[in-house]
Amino acid sequence: MKAVGLYEYLDINDPKSLLDIDIPMPSNPTGKDLLIQIDAISVNPVDVKVRAPKDKTESPARILGWDAAGTVIAIGDQATLFKPGDKVFYAGDITRPGSNAQYQLVDERIVGIAPTSLTATEAAVLPLTALTAYEALFERMGISREGADAGKSILIIGGAGGVGSIAIQLAKTFGKLHVIASASRPESESWVRNLGADAVVNHHEDLSTQLKKTPFPEVDYIFILSGTDAYFPQLSQLIAPFGKITSITETKQSHHLDALKTKSATFSWEFMFTHAMFKTKDMIKQHHLLNFIAQSIDQRLIKTTLTHNLGPINATNLKRAHHLIEAGHVIGKLALAGFST
Ligand SMILES: NC(=O)c1ccc[n+]([C@@H]2O[C@H](COP(=O)([O-])OP(=O)(O)OC[C@H]3O[C@@H](n4cnc5c(N)ncnc54)[C@H](OP(=O)(O)O)[C@@H]3O)[C@@H](O)[C@H]2O)c1
Repeated sequence: MKAVGLYEYLDINDPKSLLDIDIPMPSNPTGKDLLIQIDAISVNPVDVKVRAPKDKTESPARILGWDAAGTVIAIGDQATLFKPGDKVFYAGDITRPGSNAQYQLVDERIVGIAPTSLTATEAAVLPLTALTAYEALFERMGISREGADAGKSILIIGGAGGVGSIAIQLAKTFGKLHVIASASRPESESWVRNLGADAVVNHHEDLSTQLKKTPFPEVDYIFILSGTDAYFPQLSQLIAPFGKITSITETKQSHHLDALKTKSATFSWEFMFTHAMFKTKDMIKQHHLLNFIAQSIDQRLIKTTLTHNLGPINATNLKRAHHLIEAGHVIGKLALAGFST
């Protein structure tokens, strides 16, 4: 089958950083696995981070890609949630080969039925970011999905990117929160306002000063999607007493949690691969969660975050996607669809 893979971890400008290759088809699915034919994929910062240059080689080739929409071709002997022909979407498991290939094996417990109202390209951009945003808002921070926290405030740092674009919608539509999103350019500001942000702050300027000009000088929730190191020192000023903070981006520095003590504030991490990586007993939650996202899309409660269709799935187009993500200014999400024959 066709795939895009790597043998060496190289700068994206190196011709061998991502290669068009032919690799064996995955074996027939066993256990709870599904064999899926990939229709469309998205690309996330995790692809860029995994591909980052390092002194390591792979044989066979490493296949990246953790966002896809596709069609179930075959099911394992213990799979019960799907049948051949079902249209599905999923992020997958970072410890297994990814979705930059014509076929992929995925555990059915982390797969959802795709929205019926979207094309595969529109659906493929949703799973990884929706799982991340949903788990952060409604599980890590414990915000009510039924609106019991209506009127409370959330600051989303990095609002226009992939995760921010779906987080704004979930926080508004289901959380009924007052959403303050950060965006640093006119086009990203306009995008987050169109998604429902009530107020916008610029993450390149002092956040505390800007929040003091809004009805929420302190916020009940903070969702950090970029630069945890840069923003952590300001958090004790920004967070309200008993507030909740969740980050999804790694730190390179040490930070003092004492800063949050007097406000009894909570800090937590969200990592959407935790369920798959540790095969947690409740990993089927991600199946239900993706189905909830699909139903919410089909009911027009939230919408796809697709902004860039980069064409067929091949090394040239995937390199363009990696370039765009590395530059750090993607608004919404990128997708690629189909393998040219
Ligand atoms: N832990 C997890 O499970 C998980 C899951 C998904 C993603 N992540 C991580 O979360 C991060 C965000 O992912 P994503 O998909 O949303 O990325 P993305 O789509 O590439 O984010 C792009 C956005 O980031 C904003 N941005 C750039 N520099 C910023 C800064 N200094 N402060 C705040 N915002 C800034 C940009 O807004 P402007 O152009 O307006 O500046 C741009 O719209 C990545 O590091 C990713 O690896 C983690």
